[in-house]
Amino acid sequence: MSYILIIGARSDIAKATAREYAKHGYDLYLAARNANELEEFANDVMVRSQRVVKTIELDILNYDSHPSFYEQFEESPLGVICAVGYLGEQSKSQTDFNEAKQIINTNYTGVVSLLNNIANDFEKRKSGFIVGISSVAGDRGRKSNYIYGSAKAALTAYLSGLRNRLYASQVHVMTVKPGFVATKMTKDMDLPEKLTAQPREVAEAIYKAQQKNKSILYTKWMWRWIMLIIRNIPEWKFKGMSI
Ligand SMILES: NC(=O)c1ccc[n+]([C@@H]2O[C@H](COP(=O)([O-])OP(=O)(O)OC[C@H]3O[C@@H](n4cnc5c(N)ncnc54)[C@H](OP(=O)(O)O)[C@@H]3O)[C@@H](O)[C@H]2O)c1
Repeated sequence: MSYILIIGARSDIAKATAREYAKHGYDLYLAARNANELEEFANDVMVRSQRVVKTIELDILNYDSHPSFYEQFEESPLGVICAVGYLGEQSKSQTDFNEAKQIINTNYTGVVSLLNNIANDFEKRKSGFIVGISSVAGDRGRKSNYIYGSAKAALTAYLSGLRNRLYASQVHVMTVKPGFVATKMTKDMDLPEKLTAQPREVAEAIYKAQQKNKSILYTKWMWRWIMLIIRNIPEWKFKGMSI
């Protein structure tokens, strides 16, 4: 058996990714808060794919639980995919530090706490892969979401350093930078259709890129070029823009 651990498994992107890996013959550990609510989904994946799917409780903000969370696996996972995230409310986070803290800790601190445990194990055994879902929002801070964007920028830098460190141990680290994706995170937004991916498209792109040991994946693909342009707008112009 070869298990993939999916963190934040109730996420729409994570669920589509779970189906994609099961379809390709992998067994799954699905870790999420309120994991009991994943039972029906897990059973459906098991029936369709004939793979083993186990659900496990995990709160990414409960840092102290992370070492024992990872030690519980009889068979340690072949690879891990982290989809945990919290967009939060930018306007609230400007006046309420608890909101800012939740955004930062969910997207960054908690992920670092858990991935550190996993990275150390993979480094020792000299195998495995780590896929972290960051965001194009981390490529440049914008007034509409810079608390979330700064947490994702930190995650992107963390994954880059981890990739560099683990390269010598044959452990591959991939950073995923989605643009817009139609999920429960963005359900209240009016997203431009051509620039918006469905979770299934993101899942297929993650699977393909991970199998090829890609380092950075923009999805949809055009976001690589959109962000190249946005990153290169001079600061004197960018600071007055509303994008
Ligand atoms: N949708 C987009 O346009 C977009 C764009 C760029 C990047 N992303 C990133 O893609 C990833 C997946 O997001 P999504 O779009 O699929 O949205 P989603 O369905 O809202 O997924 C986010 C997941 O994070 C989980 N989570 C939040 N706090 C947690 C905690 N304390 N402990 C454990 N899990 C926690 C949520 O759990 P619950 O289900 O229990 O709430 C949820 O399942 C995220 O990292 C997000 O930042 C999304």
